[in-house]
Amino acid sequence: MHLIVVDTPFDTGPVVAGLVADHRPRVLGVATGSSPEPAYREIVRLGELAPSTVLCLLDEYIGLAPGSAHRYRAQIERQMGGPLGALRIEGPDVDRADLPSAAAAYEQALADLGGVDVQILGIGRNGHIGFNEPGTSFSSRTHVTTLAAETRHDNARFFGSLAAVPTQSITQGLGTIMRARAIVLVAAGSSKAVAVESLFTRPPSIDLPASVLQFHGEVTVVADRAACHLLEGLPPHPVYVTQEQP
Ligand code: F6R
Repeated sequence: MHLIVVDTPFDTGPVVAGLVADHRPRVLGVATGSSPEPAYREIVRLGELAPSTVLCLLDEYIGLAPGSAHRYRAQIERQMGGPLGALRIEGPDVDRADLPSAAAAYEQALADLGGVDVQILGIGRNGHIGFNEPGTSFSSRTHVTTLAAETRHDNARFFGSLAAVPTQSITQGLGTIMRARAIVLVAAGSSKAVAVESLFTRPPSIDLPASVLQFHGEVTVVADRAACHLLEGLPPHPVYVTQEQP
């Protein structure tokens, strides 16, 4: 895994956007939440994504009204799809009565698209990627999942109250994420420091879902200094650190 450290959350944007542009993705996997927002603003500003690019959601809440602005599809539409000229957005159909079959259909849709060229990820305080919470199998495919208590607590900031945060989602599985040809993980803020330190210093374990990425050959972590403050020995910014695959 490569680690690129920048000063502030804002500074992650140009680095991530540059990495994405280098890959000229046909299919771009997109996480939501605060971490990738600077990157999405920069991707829109650069305007380098081809109009035929398909944006594929990493996950989607279950139980929100179809018109809810909190839906991840709506967020990606606002942040990227719309500003870039109505890019096609794919995601799991969380309105289906049979949710496991909606998850399986999204897994198939990703395969039919030929797979994800570049997957942008955030990371949870507990090391989740997508909504694959600790304990999720490294080989999991797209599935219905229950959000961990701390994930709901962290995401309450977007909803105004804990009670309003959905309890379930459909998420790409860890095995699904690992099929992406390249992965860029964004981590910002000191609340991510333990997860980032564990990602780079501990052996892979299902207790830290992101650690599955240690088995992927093309992962770049773009993190701000606060998220890296537990990693010792970093020279002054920006630094480019490469860690051997285990
Ligand atoms: C969102 C997602 C989550 C977030 C993670 C970090 O689509 O899959 O894994 O990336 O919870 O969220 P932020 O960036 O808001 O701290």
